[in-house]
Amino acid sequence: MTTVILDALADPDGAVRRAGELLRDGQLVAIPTETVYGLAARIDDAEALRQIFHVKGRPQDNPLIVHCATRTQVDAVVDWLLVDDVDRAIIEPLMDGCWPGPLTLVLPRAAVIDAAISAGLDTVAVRIPGLDITRRIIDEAGIPLAAPSANRSGRPSPTTAGHVVDDLGGTIAAVVDGGPCREGLESTVVRVVGGRVVVLRPGSVTRIQLHEMSGAEIVDPERADDASRSPGTRYRHYAPVASMILVDSVDEIGMSYVNVAFAGDGTERSRIIVLATSDPGLPGIVWRPLLPSTLFAELRRADRLHVEKIIVLCDEAVRRNEALMNRLHKAAEPTHGTSETK
Ligand code: TXA
Ligand code: MG
Repeated sequence: MTTVILDALADPDGAVRRAGELLRDGQLVAIPTETVYGLAARIDDAEALRQIFHVKGRPQDNPLIVHCATRTQVDAVVDWLLVDDVDRAIIEPLMDGCWPGPLTLVLPRAAVIDAAISAGLDTVAVRIPGLDITRRIIDEAGIPLAAPSANRSGRPSPTTAGHVVDDLGGTIAAVVDGGPCREGLESTVVRVVGGRVVVLRPGSVTRIQLHEMSGAEIVDPERADDASRSPGTRYRHYAPVASMILVDSVDEIGMSYVNVAFAGDGTERSRIIVLATSDPGLPGIVWRPLLPSTLFAELRRADRLHVEKIIVLCDEAVRRNEALMNRLHKAAEPTHGTSETK
């Protein structure tokens, strides 16, 4: 299959029209969002949903996020009768405050939600994406779209159309190129239960913002009932081929790179990179900027260039960014030795 690139920057109307046609026809189309690119299919086409899991190599028990253009569409996929008044009073301000935007809410699902989307759970994860072009594509498709991140499982989420083509080119009908994603990390995923907000996956909507908007206590899944856990958090996400270590200070960077085995041909240092907010100015060591919006692109780049060691300088500002630290810790986990690696 040839994967068509639909250029939404040069011709947004044409890209929306063609993407809508393909999606209505049951094809898979990768679409830009404000967070990362998603691999979209209409929610009522079981074969298209099956294809999503197939082309990504995604475990069947990891449910998908449903992307809606409007609150009316959200109401059609959620069973609000199963949400009590206390939780509803928390969920409403979160929807008002964050949508359209990078917050995903896990809610009781309506019967229309295919078992493949919810992976057999009685809930559905739903969000209204923040990018106009995404909502226009959903509108054109005429139905909400199920869309996980558009990477092969085990690779970093794609933040450009090129990343999607690298992973899925030849296996999906089209990629809508909307340029690099503004946020670069996936949405915050929460579930509201028992009058508390459970953070299943940290993202750019922070705990403080969640609390300010809802007035509710914000807790980790460990502190809520087991059913609140997000299946996706069980799976290893991404570990670069290079060994990756997190350090707190510039002094520690020096310590780390002298420990790298030097073969003596003078090229070793180019195989070490430092990711840091600003250039630590270490002679001969390549510095690349550390930002939430470009982290995944940098990890992909490091693999492409066969970097052997990635040293990440986590300064105060980086350590305060929970979503960024979460992805860094996941990427720094050793690649080998665990059974669940998708
Ligand atoms: O920013 C994003 O969220 C991107 C864009 C494309 O919207 N999507 C994304 O999808 O990151 P994905 O499939 O890579 O991650 C979805 C996460 C997974 O950790 C999954 O387990 C969790 O959401 N999830 C989905 N449905 C759930 C449910 N019913 N209950 C609990 N967790 C759920
Ligand atoms: Mg993903």
